[in-house]
Amino acid sequence: MTTVIDGNSVASDIRSEITDCVETLEDSGVNPGLATVLMSDDPASETYVSMKQQDCEEVGIESHHVEIDPDAPAAELFDTIDDLNDDPAVDGILVQLPVPDHVDKREVIRAIDPAKDVDGFHPENVGRLVAGDARFKPCTPHGVQKLLEAYDIETEGADAVIVGRSDIVGKPLANLLIQKAPLGNATTTVCHSRTDDLAAYTETADIVIAAAGVTEFIGGSMLSEDATVIDVGINRVDADNEKGYQLVGDVDYESAEPVVDAITPVPGGVGPMTRAMLLYNTVKGASEAHGVDIELP
Ligand code: GUN
Repeated sequence: MTTVIDGNSVASDIRSEITDCVETLEDSGVNPGLATVLMSDDPASETYVSMKQQDCEEVGIESHHVEIDPDAPAAELFDTIDDLNDDPAVDGILVQLPVPDHVDKREVIRAIDPAKDVDGFHPENVGRLVAGDARFKPCTPHGVQKLLEAYDIETEGADAVIVGRSDIVGKPLANLLIQKAPLGNATTTVCHSRTDDLAAYTETADIVIAAAGVTEFIGGSMLSEDATVIDVGINRVDADNEKGYQLVGDVDYESAEPVVDAITPVPGGVGPMTRAMLLYNTVKGASEAHGVDIELP
């Protein structure tokens, strides 16, 4: 029987522990706050940001939201970031990506105070992660590690194949899985769109992490019966339903599920974990900014 990895359930447990962290902070007079900044009218980005605000509300984190017209000058976004950097009520800042073409994404990431960079994208935080001294682990890779931990899937000595080399998932996850640390010690291979004979890598892997952003890129014939498959993809495809679309991953679930040992569904796998780890980073930031100890999950 294939284990279907339930991200909703693991994320719910983590959220409940984060609620305790928020209470501990509040007992010391600290109200953790997350600022979300949206400079886009993309419906998917709007949905993601509003879900993040709802998550904050659920665990008691104060949410501050700023919307900037996507046609506004870039300076408006940079001024907003400066204000949030200086605002003591804000412990975490998340600028929803992508930003419009006339705004330099790298400059945006560098403008955020690294101590409030709950995405973990600032070069200082990337450097610390690579050096094995992470301040904020990026949310999706951290969520993947937590899912593996919750299901007792051993990374030490495992052959892990990551399909995708993005700054948000593939690169940081590779760095986490190779760390000489708990939830690391994996022999890690990063494949990508230019990999010759992708199946040669995936079919011998113990852990396959699909993060290529390509609909149903990996099928059952490319996977082994012992594999754990973590599907990071969230792709919208047209569907004959109320919304007009449905979400599918980078893995062809129909063909993969009967083959492998364990697999995450889409939705309900990695997505809720990404959201939970953002809350984790926000309370971690608040705890460090105000010198209050908390017991993180
Ligand atoms: N857009 C898609 N994923 C992310 C993310 O993890 N963080 C931010 N800031 N924007 C995103």
